[in-house]
Amino acid sequence: MSQSTGRSTPLPMVAPEAGLPSRVTIYEVGARDGLQNEQALVPTQVKAEFVRRLLTAGLPVVEATSFVHPKWVPQLADAADLMTDLATSLGDASRDLPVLVPNERGLDRALELGLRHIAVFGSATETFAQKNLNRSLDDQFAMFEPTVRRARDAGLDVRAYVSMCFGDPWEGGVPVEQVVDVGRRLFDLGASQLSLGDTIGVGTAGHVTALVRAFEAAGMTTDQLALHFHDTYGQALSNVQAGLRAGITTFDASAGGLGGCPYAQSATGNLATEDLVWLLTGLGIEHGVDLDAVVATSVWMAGHLGRPSPSAVVRALAPSEPAGGSLAQSPA
Ligand code: HMG
Ligand code: MG
Repeated sequence: MSQSTGRSTPLPMVAPEAGLPSRVTIYEVGARDGLQNEQALVPTQVKAEFVRRLLTAGLPVVEATSFVHPKWVPQLADAADLMTDLATSLGDASRDLPVLVPNERGLDRALELGLRHIAVFGSATETFAQKNLNRSLDDQFAMFEPTVRRARDAGLDVRAYVSMCFGDPWEGGVPVEQVVDVGRRLFDLGASQLSLGDTIGVGTAGHVTALVRAFEAAGMTTDQLALHFHDTYGQALSNVQAGLRAGITTFDASAGGLGGCPYAQSATGNLATEDLVWLLTGLGIEHGVDLDAVVATSVWMAGHLGRPSPSAVVRALAPSEPAGGSLAQSPA
């Protein structure tokens, strides 16, 4: 075991565990999954600064926003303005920031801006497909198929999310075979990666292992899979550990633990990026992220949102973070 030194804020002792990956990619979703669920509308310039700070903190992938119907998710209705702002400040690199796209209309909007990475998002359950996409489970594929095909023909990279992989607030438990069937169908449309979402945070470690193994049995490899945990029941880090042991090397996380889904009320914050960084650092797994810089970013964003971050690591490292901020009095 070795101790990290030379800094004023603490880091965990490093104690590697045999058999785990040596490097992990953190896929940052705070600007999208985090801000889509905020009641207060965050100004576009603040969102742009949030994305820039996350990139500066070393996060290798920063999902920026969604090109969904603006009435369905008004929080992200400024998607085009945000990407234009980011193009001004970041130049060509802004085109590599992934954005959510549900359909051809969303793809057209992304193509107009020259974006190179999109993510479609399907549901493993019938009820959530209806609530989130206004489509039946089967009809969602008819929406995604031309979207992914046209995106690939235009040279874009496509990620596919599948939601409600570990349980659904309306349908209860979701059979592993059903998740694998939907996930494979989505992936086979032409995605480069499938992110398995625990949208309402009910999953537990053994379930994670079983799901990853079932996808492998269905012919997928662990480098084609990512895990996306919400932390409703405090299981996210335990679930990451199970994912690492199963060989997964991409984990989604949200700075400060922001997040949720406006179409699943029981979805609370995502796994906090800082909590994930703490775990990975302790395990000696490379991630390339500057913990202090992410904490400072989350404290700054908490000031704008008017409430403290739910991340345990942010609270431990920045105990005096602001409880109120410029949006605290904004109308909901
Ligand atoms: P719809 O109403 O069925 O759409 O919504 P439609 O195809 O019938 O079109 C109706 C009108 O909307 C048309 O306009 C379209 O042009 C317009 P009109 O001809 O009537 O004037 N329209 C659009 N406008 C702008 N951008 C678009 C767009 N699409 C249609 N992209 C739709 C279907 C999928 C669009 C809607 O249900 C929607 O936007 N849903 C998004 C919901 C959402 O964003 N949820 C949160 C993200 S998912 C998530 O958080 C889970 C995740 O984190 C993983 C996890 O945790 O599990 C990823
Ligand atoms: Mg999510």
